[in-house]
Amino acid sequence: MKPRLGFVRARLSDLKKHELYRKLLSVRLSGQHIIFENKKLVNLSSNDYLGLGLTKIPKSQLQSSSRLISGNDELFEKLEARLSRHKHQEASLVFPTGYMANLGMLSILPQEGDLILSDELNHASIIDSCRLSRARKSIYRHDDLQDLERKIRSRARRKFVITEGIFSMNGDFSRLDEIAEICCSHGAFLLLDDAHGDFVAGPDGRGSASHFRVSKKVDVYISSLSKGLGAFGGYASASKDVINLAVNTSRPFIYTSALPNFLVHAAIQKFDSDREKKRIRLWRNSDLLRKGLRSSGFEIESPSQIIPIVIGPEKKAMDFGRYLYQNGVFAQPVRYPTVARGKARIRISVTAWLSQVEIEKSLGVFERAGKKFGIT
Ligand SMILES: Cc1ncc(COP(=O)(O)O)c(C=O)c1O
Repeated sequence: MKPRLGFVRARLSDLKKHELYRKLLSVRLSGQHIIFENKKLVNLSSNDYLGLGLTKIPKSQLQSSSRLISGNDELFEKLEARLSRHKHQEASLVFPTGYMANLGMLSILPQEGDLILSDELNHASIIDSCRLSRARKSIYRHDDLQDLERKIRSRARRKFVITEGIFSMNGDFSRLDEIAEICCSHGAFLLLDDAHGDFVAGPDGRGSASHFRVSKKVDVYISSLSKGLGAFGGYASASKDVINLAVNTSRPFIYTSALPNFLVHAAIQKFDSDREKKRIRLWRNSDLLRKGLRSSGFEIESPSQIIPIVIGPEKKAMDFGRYLYQNGVFAQPVRYPTVARGKARIRISVTAWLSQVEIEKSLGVFERAGKKFGIT
């Protein structure tokens, strides 16, 4: 090791000491299974909630340019029109990822003199986007709407509330009907990152706002194409003016290469596929898993397809995850900084891929793990 890099080694040692060191696992996906170290495991860590991810890649020439130069493949328009209809909005804009859609929208709307109100459990991409904006930030306690009401009274030129639809690490819904009311009565804009609710929640999978019947009260939708849709990319849907402003001023949109056209093609294909049957199956599978875990003695609060089992100490969560793996189930432990220190958890994400047999097998493993680690 070069002596100059001693500080890097020290930081890595510190992560190891606190059980926060991460390693990339070399895996291969095969439907509802994941192959790791030649072992076939039931995959309970996929965000391909509807099981649409299987994709044939057509022969295509990659654009190798940003969308404002020569990368705006004609398929973008088709996909964006579909997404606008899906969200009942005037216009949509596809970004290379959902992370970039957050960066791209939150950096152009709230300006100096404005106030962003953000739920404390919002995803890292929202936190980073808030950091890019020159607006003042105010973090309200998770799902504490009294705290939001208190903080929204603070003086500012314009106010923007940003929340997730289904929280990625807790699996709970934002109370969007009440949040929309609060925004209305304070003249605030409502921005919704629905990466985990989109294509999954609400009638026809239109998302969390549709589930709460407040679709029209959301000013800007931000979402991912890489989860419920089983494709890849991110997008925003809003009024034509907001989308035009993004095309003209959003640096994460302008200064990067366009999403490859075969991925746009894949998103259109998934969009047009019969998603409804899979969506119903996803909710049935989620209910089966939730009920089974509860009857084994786990405390489960989540009403959605994201079902966390909070273990607490990081090491214990890692050991719990290892036990699952040794017994044929892949459900990754999630640790700080993704969740708070000492609140490490196994984040189960249910998919429509899973059969009843796989769900029962997984429940058996969880039941034994719960007893072994003194959780149940
Ligand atoms: C709430 C939320 N927003 C945005 C993203 C980023 O989406 P993508 O994976 O498309 O970059 C994620 C990813 O996990 C997420 O959980």
